[in-house]
Amino acid sequence: VSEAPSNPNSHSTQPERRRPHGGRPIRVGLLGAGVVGGGVLALLAQHARQIEQRVGVRVEVGRALVRDLGKPRVPEAAGVPFTTDAEELFGDASLDLFVEVMGGTDEAGTLLARALSSGRSVVTANKALLAARGAGLFALAAANRADLAFEAAVGGGIPIIRTLRDAASSDEVVGITGILNGTSNFILTAMTDSRAPFAEALADAQARGFAEADPSLDVGGFDAAQKLLVLAMLAFGQEPVPLSHDPSSAVLVEGITAIDAADVEAADRLGFVVKHLVVGRDHGERVELRAHPALVRKLSAWAAVAGSLNAVKIEGRALGPLFMSGRGAGDLPTAVSVVADVVEVARSIVAGVPGLSTGLATGARAVAVRPLVPRADLELRYYVRFEVHDQPGVLARIAGALAEHRVSIAEIVQSEGKEGRARIVLTTHRAREGAMLASLAELAPISVAAPVLLRIEDTL
Ligand SMILES: NC(=O)c1ccc[n+]([C@@H]2O[C@H](COP(=O)([O-])OP(=O)(O)OC[C@H]3O[C@@H](n4cnc5c(N)ncnc54)[C@H](OP(=O)(O)O)[C@@H]3O)[C@@H](O)[C@H]2O)c1
Repeated sequence: VSEAPSNPNSHSTQPERRRPHGGRPIRVGLLGAGVVGGGVLALLAQHARQIEQRVGVRVEVGRALVRDLGKPRVPEAAGVPFTTDAEELFGDASLDLFVEVMGGTDEAGTLLARALSSGRSVVTANKALLAARGAGLFALAAANRADLAFEAAVGGGIPIIRTLRDAASSDEVVGITGILNGTSNFILTAMTDSRAPFAEALADAQARGFAEADPSLDVGGFDAAQKLLVLAMLAFGQEPVPLSHDPSSAVLVEGITAIDAADVEAADRLGFVVKHLVVGRDHGERVELRAHPALVRKLSAWAAVAGSLNAVKIEGRALGPLFMSGRGAGDLPTAVSVVADVVEVARSIVAGVPGLSTGLATGARAVAVRPLVPRADLELRYYVRFEVHDQPGVLARIAGALAEHRVSIAEIVQSEGKEGRARIVLTTHRAREGAMLASLAELAPISVAAPVLLRIEDTL
């Protein structure tokens, strides 16, 4: 299916855009009925009357697609026809919209492109898909007068997409900051509270259902970075780019796997807490996008975002800062966002103007690629932990290398390590990241292990 972009506003010149719905119930095709899909089935059934009042007609699940018909489902799935054959859903002309909660990018992307091409609206919770193919899917939605709603893709139950799309539509959003990966936040909170090592905190998160069996997307920083790309698309009109851990990659992506209990401890002594953050800034010519662990002040609002909670802050030129915190995952919180999108999209269908509430709004913010700020040009404060051979002059050598690159030290603490090693922890004043990296490269010969470099965000 072609995803060729078209002018999103072009069809506004066409005389007939109303498609009367005729008072029939809205029928949903559900693609996936796992954690989130189960929550969607439950909320649509439990709040059926309230939803009918808000939409004007009943909203019901007409058919559901899964992989395994033998799996147990939520009680509210009883009576819904389940299938493993997507053709049964696409062949059912009575389905008005599709809700995609299956995950993955290939098959989900093909199904959504197909739904949008046939003029049927889509609600999705899939940030990975939007980060990979969002711009093409938005163009397809606009070209076919269909809605593409995705509140649950970022921040689970936190209404950040609506806030950016509607509440901030009168403003220019210049900054986004967030704690958007509940797994990483759960692990870092456990490491802070009990000084547990990373591996132990991860195993505990897995045992308690807060981390997947394969946690690499979460603890590697990619899940949070994908969400940042989705927010940056909406807030700054920045087209998503491929993500990687490569240091030369335009979007800085670092996870929490290198964080040691020693860093949590040292941060604590310096008055900080370690959090995994996403940061986006619109600098006009260039856009800054990064996802990495950072030190935040113990007394900041960010430090209070504990366990699996998420938080996000946007900064509007006119509005100033706006901060929201809440449950970023889980069946029901995520389903609240999915079903709110279903209500909104269903209303447009009933009003005969599908594509109006989300499709045109997203299409109206032109998505283009602007250059990203390269890593070397970032200007921040830094935390560094060195493990070095305990020899006379090491402190002076570190101070010398930093001074040579015009990095000024704010605080420095030396403590005794194991087996004749010394641990040196320092923080800097604002410096260019390129200068930091050059200093660290020069200090490689005296380091027993690669130094740990973390960014300090003390002005959030
Ligand atoms: N879990 C959360 O808290 C959360 C929060 C925000 C966003 N999301 C997003 O929501 C989406 C779904 O997540 P989830 O946690 O609900 O996943 P999940 O529990 O694994 O559910 C996936 C569902 O999709 C079905 N499915 C997957 N691939 C399929 C295929 N190729 N053909 C047919 N059916 C297929 C599965 O069928 P079977 O049941 O038969 O296996 C299952 O019902 C993902 O995009 C995720 O990123 C999740």
